[in-house]
Amino acid sequence: MIRKKLIAGNWKMNKTSADASTLVQEIVAEVGRVTDVDILVCPPFTSLESAGKLLEGSNVKLGAQNMHHEASGAYTGEISASMLRSTFATYVILGHSERRTYFAENDKFINQKVLAALKNQLKPVLCVGETLAERESGATLKVVQTQLEGALEGVSKEQATSVVVAYEPVWAIGTGKVATTEQAQEVHAFIRSLLVKLFGDAIAQKVRILYGGSMKPSNAPELLAQKDIDGGLIGGASLESRSFVELVKAAAAAK
Ligand code: 13P
Repeated sequence: MIRKKLIAGNWKMNKTSADASTLVQEIVAEVGRVTDVDILVCPPFTSLESAGKLLEGSNVKLGAQNMHHEASGAYTGEISASMLRSTFATYVILGHSERRTYFAENDKFINQKVLAALKNQLKPVLCVGETLAERESGATLKVVQTQLEGALEGVSKEQATSVVVAYEPVWAIGTGKVATTEQAQEVHAFIRSLLVKLFGDAIAQKVRILYGGSMKPSNAPELLAQKDIDGGLIGGASLESRSFVELVKAAAAAK
């Protein structure tokens, strides 16, 4: 398999630095030496530096949950790519549906962030996905296409292999409602076909497409067995080491 599976934890707005350190230490102790699955944790900004130090020497990677596209300046409350790099973060989640919904992020803005992340050697985890109303009206593939093409405008073929795409149906996030394997695989295959059009087949085959939305140890094996599902972006089940470690093991078994 040319794509190594990636299990990524999006901790969202959870955990103080002290709580984050405890969780990172537990994860490192359990799966810090795993090499057949890529593992990523994305704590809040306030824990990046301390988490980065605890992850040093392990195989667990560090990511942020957002960033601003400008290098520096008068952007109160924002964080730049170089600030993230200084914490040893190598990934950044961009365009999460919660950012789109609650902070009015649009495809143009997300595109600026994607380009800035790549320019600074940060791997974007680009989130796309439809709402329930969009799915029920038959607009899923159109929505995903618009989001994907909008966010990847101007990305070169060389840069594209550093991009991770996460398909997160909004109706499945934090709801306990998981997409069926057929629903997920259909959209993942569609995303792959769009990547082929944008970057050519060889590169599209290297880009990892994660599923996100109520993924947990009980439903992960079936999802991870699908041809175009290359891992998971996990919210709730990443906040506790036991379930996160089980997901890493499910990914190792699925490869
Ligand atoms: P849940 O796993 O809690 O549904 O969250 C998914 C998600 O939004 C990850 O980015």
